[in-house]
Amino acid sequence: MTTVFSGIQPSGDFHLGNYVGALRNWAAAQHEHSAYFCVVDLHALTLEIDPEELRRRTLESAVMLLAVGLDPDVVTLFVQSHVAEHTRLAWLLECTATMGELSRMTQYKEKAARGEMVRAGLFTYPALMAADILLYQADEVPVGDDQRQHLELTRDVAIRFNNRYGPTFTVPKAAVPRHGARVMDLQHPEHKMSKSVDSPMGTVGILDDPAEVERKVMRAVTDAETRVAYDPEHKPGVSNLLELLAVATGVGVQEAAARYAGYGQLKADVAQAVIAMLAPVRQRALELASDLGEVERLLSAGAARAREVAAPTYAAAAAAMGLSAP
Ligand code: AMP
Ligand code: TRP
Repeated sequence: MTTVFSGIQPSGDFHLGNYVGALRNWAAAQHEHSAYFCVVDLHALTLEIDPEELRRRTLESAVMLLAVGLDPDVVTLFVQSHVAEHTRLAWLLECTATMGELSRMTQYKEKAARGEMVRAGLFTYPALMAADILLYQADEVPVGDDQRQHLELTRDVAIRFNNRYGPTFTVPKAAVPRHGARVMDLQHPEHKMSKSVDSPMGTVGILDDPAEVERKVMRAVTDAETRVAYDPEHKPGVSNLLELLAVATGVGVQEAAARYAGYGQLKADVAQAVIAMLAPVRQRALELASDLGEVERLLSAGAARAREVAAPTYAAAAAAMGLSAP
């Protein structure tokens, strides 16, 4: 059985991009693979976040992972900081990766450009992400398109480590969905939908109520033409809507495009399809939110299971590099 690992930051409200680019694929993967899913709270510290907010969002993120359908009896669901091996292996990998490699990461460059005080952790972030993945000997990492570059770095670091210190890590690959890997902002379809960009009308929250989803989709920016066609380069707004329809209903993007003579009906159908897709998630999230004690208990059991795999991998890596056993 292959192993999958993925993580999500508890740094904001989860949106439609997170759902179709990542979370729904995690739920789909859980029964065919040995699966580890992690709320990466340490990564959230790389940008300013209020301590109380981080604590609250960490638990809320776990609620969302359960709400999208992850079965805690089947997957190992945990919080990154609860398993100390993540930071321990990250150091070993910081001593394997190079400054040049880390400097080329576009996510670092984008985020660094936004803040005056750039934390050292923002720069070394991909080494911690590589540690997350390599600790569990993951074969596949289901993520959206924006994480491809981090996965390439993880592969390079794993290969370099194995060559220099002996076979230690499985070299993982990214599993990026064919549609929905890059959901665009509904108001600014040239930018990806994102929790950090201040575009409330362009971002559909997974927990938005149906009326809100409808309002946002109906007001989505399209273009001056009226022709429905799938052409992400020249018609990013319309193509984004077609991608969403494809993901939510299973129809192909070209086939969907052929069905519509104008934008109004397309938007109305996209709104209804997205509402229907999110409805069960929203329902489960509301139910789970009423028993956070149970969610905490599941996370604690998840961390114990994760440690059983992470500890021997870390010990093997440390020994391979020449660290003496305690
Ligand atoms: P983040 O919100 O940056 O922690 O991302 C969590 C997961 O959602 C990662 O796998 C991302 O690749 C994915 N993701 C984030 N934004 C989008 C988007 N606009 N479209 C598709 N996937 C996304
Ligand atoms: N960097 C990822 C993001 O911003 C989050 C993440 C951290 C992650 N560690 C990971 C994703 C390990 C996959 C695997 O979305």
